Amino acid sequence: MRAAFQCAPIVLLYCLSPSLLPAATAAGQPAPASAHAPAPVPAPVPDTLAQRLVACTSCHGDPGKLPPRDEHRYFPRIAGKPAGYLYHQLLNFREGRRQYPMMTWMVTPLSDDYLREIADYFAAQHLVAAPLDRTALPTAELARGRQLVTQGDTALKVPACIACHGQRLTGTLPAIPGLLGLPRDYINAQFGAWRNGSRRAHAPDCMGTIAARLSLADVAAVSAWLASEPQPADPTPQAAGTQPLTLACGSAQQAASTQAREQAR
Ligand code: HEC
Ligand code: HEC
Repeated sequence: MRAAFQCAPIVLLYCLSPSLLPAATAAGQPAPASAHAPAPVPAPVPDTLAQRLVACTSCHGDPGKLPPRDEHRYFPRIAGKPAGYLYHQLLNFREGRRQYPMMTWMVTPLSDDYLREIADYFAAQHLVAAPLDRTALPTAELARGRQLVTQGDTALKVPACIACHGQRLTGTLPAIPGLLGLPRDYINAQFGAWRNGSRRAHAPDCMGTIAARLSLADVAAVSAWLASEPQPADPTPQAAGTQPLTLACGSAQQAASTQAREQAR
């Protein structure tokens, strides 16, 4: 059991980098003893991006399969989030601004160009996630959550979440993620990570500021409402706004300049 668990990451990394195996064989093993008895050739696995990224969809969900029934799973949905957002999160794991050893371990050997390709692939997907059962949640908590998401709280200096995450909460191009279809535990954990500094974005880190201004009860209210809100019929992120954000966000500025650089290439 233990051995199987330890092997899994190696299998995942191999999936991502099919070129690793021939390189390792050439460097580390002697040539076959007899040229007359070639080793049996394994059945070829198609080397497509989709095939390699099965390593990711095992945790993040596969649009080609039924959505997982267990809404308590922690893994965030990544399908359909803006490519600029996904790309910078992958860089954040690689460069230590986010902490999740498995993610860091997977992205560390990958080049910027490959991470960009992966981000583009998932941004173009759509994955329906089952919302949490709202009838089981306290009405007052849901009402507070809805209020913070749609109106914010001026006394706490917390802007409405929809001001940045989009009217339909499907995100805003180029780099603000949608907030629906995420597990409640994941949302709570992200607020915890901003508060204790283990998740950071480029300065000014607007989510770090917002997380510091919300009480634990408010975070619980927001996550209850968001996780139990069904995804809208049109899951696409909204176009970039023409107005400045209600708080400056370094990650949004960074992604906009990455995008401008790539368009100029
Ligand atoms: C073993 C399960 C697992 C595998 C396999 C995995 N991930 Fe993750 N991934 C996670 C978890 C858990 C998180 C959230 C970590 C945290 O708390 O910040 C995450 C976070 C992410 C995020 C940030 C999501 C967001 O909304 O901010 C991206 C992007 C991501 N993963 C992409 C990938 C890609 C691409 C692959 C394949 C190369 C992959 N993941 C493989 C478990 C996994
Ligand atoms: C001023 C703009 C702004 C406002 C207002 C805002 N956000 Fe964000 N949010 C962002 C940006 C930008 C990111 C991406 C941060 C990064 O790159 O790490 C983000 C990321 C997130 C994430 C991470 C999603 C994921 O997939 O990991 C969550 C959760 C979140 N915000 C929740 C909220 C909630 C709840 C509110 C309202 C209380 C809110 N945000 C208000 C700009 C904003």
